[in-house]
Amino acid sequence: MKEEKVRIRQATLDDIPQMVEVDQRAWWDEVAFTAEHFESQIRTYPQGVLVAEAAINGRKRLVGTICGLRISSALANSLHNWSEATGNGYFTTHIPNGNVMFGANLSVLPEFGRKGIGDKLFGHAAAVIVRQNVPYLIFGGRLPDLAEYNRKRIAEDLSKVTGEEYAALRDGQGRILDDELRFYLRQPFMEMIRVLPEYFPDPESENYGVLLKWHNPLYKLHLGWLYRIPLLGRVIGLLGASIIRVLV
Ligand SMILES: CC(C)(COP(=O)(O)OP(=O)(O)OC[C@H]1O[C@@H](n2cnc3c(N)ncnc32)[C@H](O)[C@@H]1OP(=O)(O)O)[C@@H](O)C(=O)NCCC(=O)NCCS
Repeated sequence: MKEEKVRIRQATLDDIPQMVEVDQRAWWDEVAFTAEHFESQIRTYPQGVLVAEAAINGRKRLVGTICGLRISSALANSLHNWSEATGNGYFTTHIPNGNVMFGANLSVLPEFGRKGIGDKLFGHAAAVIVRQNVPYLIFGGRLPDLAEYNRKRIAEDLSKVTGEEYAALRDGQGRILDDELRFYLRQPFMEMIRVLPEYFPDPESENYGVLLKWHNPLYKLHLGWLYRIPLLGRVIGLLGASIIRVLV
């Protein structure tokens, strides 16, 4: 499958059965979103819910999803876990003019992994942030290789490392050790804030999350007032979104 055949678009209610399938395959039962979650998210904030649609042998199939909501900076600054940011996945914490975008989920079907679909979904989510002139995105990344890393250390009679220690580790070539943390930090304008214990139930990451912040580079140009001029604002938003899709 060629990457060009994957199109990212806003989700609709008709997509829900396939979105549930993608999420269940990418995650595990206890944490995967249900149809009720996706319906609540799409009804609450449709611009924040995107899907990756692949054309395979002429048939369309959803292979990935990404979603986020807008929250207040007060909530963002005091954030402890995923559930309180997302209203347990139902987006009840969404505020239409909230000045922080919160990334709630990113899932790609395992058999379509490592083909650039996650990157592409992230680029389109970044474009939404630019189009809506939101200053930044925050979200909790996982450390899914941590539990396995600690299992090996214990087998070698070494002590376990904490999430903080693990997130700082590099491989022999100086690259971030954890595959998924490397995926996030290779995105331009991304910054790691801190490691959060008990972020959400995730045995592979020993329940740790990594709080990450993606800065909207166009927001810093102070063009916010232009966005408020109806037609011009829309043109600037679309232009900014196209630029960001190339950069990210
Ligand atoms: C993390 C995830 C979204 C990546 O999607 P993807 O389409 O494979 O990503 P891309 O092809 O754009 O990028 C590949 C990079 O992602 C990372 N990655 C890919 N598959 C991975 C996996 N199974 N586990 C961890 N990291 C992975 C690696 O850094 C990889 O880079 P590399 O190939 O140079 O080593 C996907 O593996 C997934 O859905 N995982 C399960 C759910 C999850 O953890 N979601 C993110 C947390 S909100």
